[in-house]
Amino acid sequence: MKIRLIGALVSVAFLILVVFSIPLASFVATVERERLVTALERDAFMLAGHAKETLNTTAGAVLPSLQPFIEEYAIASRARIVVTNAAGLSIASSDPSVLIGTDFTNRPEVVKALTGVPAVGERKSATLGETLVFVAVPVLLGDSVLGVVRLSHPKSHIDNEVRNRVIGIVIAGLFTLLAAVGIAIPLALTIARPISKLTRRTERLADGDFSVRADDATGPPEVRDLSRSFNAMAGRLGLVIENQRHFASAASHQLRTPLTALRLRLEQAQELVPSDASVLADTLDASRAEADRLQEMVEQLLALARLEGGSTATMSVNASEIVRNRIEMWESLAAERGVRISGRIAEHASCAVIDGALEQIVDNYIDNALTVAPEGSDIVVSVVRSENHVVIDVIDAGPGLQPEQRDRAFERFWRGAATTNSAGTGLGLAIVLQLATASGGTAELLPRADGSSGLVARVTFSAR
Ligand SMILES: Nc1ncnc2c1ncn2[C@@H]1O[C@H](COP(=O)(O)OP(=O)(O)OP(=O)(O)O)[C@@H](O)[C@H]1O
Ligand SMILES: [Mg+2]
Repeated sequence: MKIRLIGALVSVAFLILVVFSIPLASFVATVERERLVTALERDAFMLAGHAKETLNTTAGAVLPSLQPFIEEYAIASRARIVVTNAAGLSIASSDPSVLIGTDFTNRPEVVKALTGVPAVGERKSATLGETLVFVAVPVLLGDSVLGVVRLSHPKSHIDNEVRNRVIGIVIAGLFTLLAAVGIAIPLALTIARPISKLTRRTERLADGDFSVRADDATGPPEVRDLSRSFNAMAGRLGLVIENQRHFASAASHQLRTPLTALRLRLEQAQELVPSDASVLADTLDASRAEADRLQEMVEQLLALARLEGGSTATMSVNASEIVRNRIEMWESLAAERGVRISGRIAEHASCAVIDGALEQIVDNYIDNALTVAPEGSDIVVSVVRSENHVVIDVIDAGPGLQPEQRDRAFERFWRGAATTNSAGTGLGLAIVLQLATASGGTAELLPRADGSSGLVARVTFSAR
């Protein structure tokens, strides 16, 4: 991974360099070539200025002042210089092998300059056997051409200069590339190292080690975010698995009790078959009750399991109306037990819950309250609406619960001393909590505000 990342970064740097350097080098080559030719032209004009005086005053005679000047200039500039008169015959030259009076009218650039037009170009010199870049400028006096100054430079000199510039660019490019490698390696390491570490952690998690956590304090911000998400996921996964384990062991433990009881009763019934029919009927009745309990428990467990994986989309419901309906539903059963059930319900209290949750929660709370409510007591169900919340309380006058029991009551299968003799699975409040949480609300058990005996079973939802 590291190597691949470094390779990718360097390739990108290389590509950018190539894309920018090729046009840059060709531009620099053109500019450099033009610069050198322009310098030749400038020098030629400067020499022409000098030659003008000579050619003008002496009317073509060789003046000693021009020759040394030309020689001096030729040494400094490494150019060859020839000055001709108006007839195209040389009057001075930097090259000693060119005799005074040599005819240059066979050179096209000289002919062109003699017509008063400067000439620039390159030509293979038969005499020297190499390509020359030349500039020929007329020596003008008013409109008349007094002569020509011709400067020539071996093209190879100019090419060398241009090549040196291009080599300079290539060297700068190589240094840039080297710098890119120098930056790419630590950069790749800072990105790749934490990702490799995270990969190893992920593998450990995949192997079932849910205690594994990623380092979310170092590395680039994106990797830190990824590590935080990984930790949240690992934590949640661990919790879910732990819950499942706990659930499975508690469920098997809880199911074993009614199953054993059922088996014992059936064995008993078997033994009783020949003797007492009335006792047999009782035993079978008790067996059926155990079977019912078992069935209820399995159904509750399934409801819980469904809730755990289910959708948590909430909808707006009218809590006032739902609670009023539930009270009505429970009234007759409460009356049978000598308990009064009444409501203190705010109007139009709408709240957000998942479908059917509010009904199930209120039913569970009222069911619990009825289980513990002494005969002649009251159960009050209230609905209060504040700006942001809707609070529903089911208040009974039963024995209540100790503070530590109030939290435990929401655990699966936990049942308090007051209810051990009554039917029940210990799953009702676990389902309440699950439904309230899935709806974005809270469920809690509280002591009664007035300090009297009993319990306040409360659920709070967001108001709508
Ligand atoms: N209003 C209450 N007053 C006193 N104790 C309560 C009250 N509500 C619940 N509890 C205690 O909490 C325990 C757990 O309640 P939960 O509703 O989860 O189970 P359950 O009522 O025993 O069984 P299930 O609801 O599954 O039929 C109860 O067994 C009871 O001991
Ligand atoms: Mg219950």
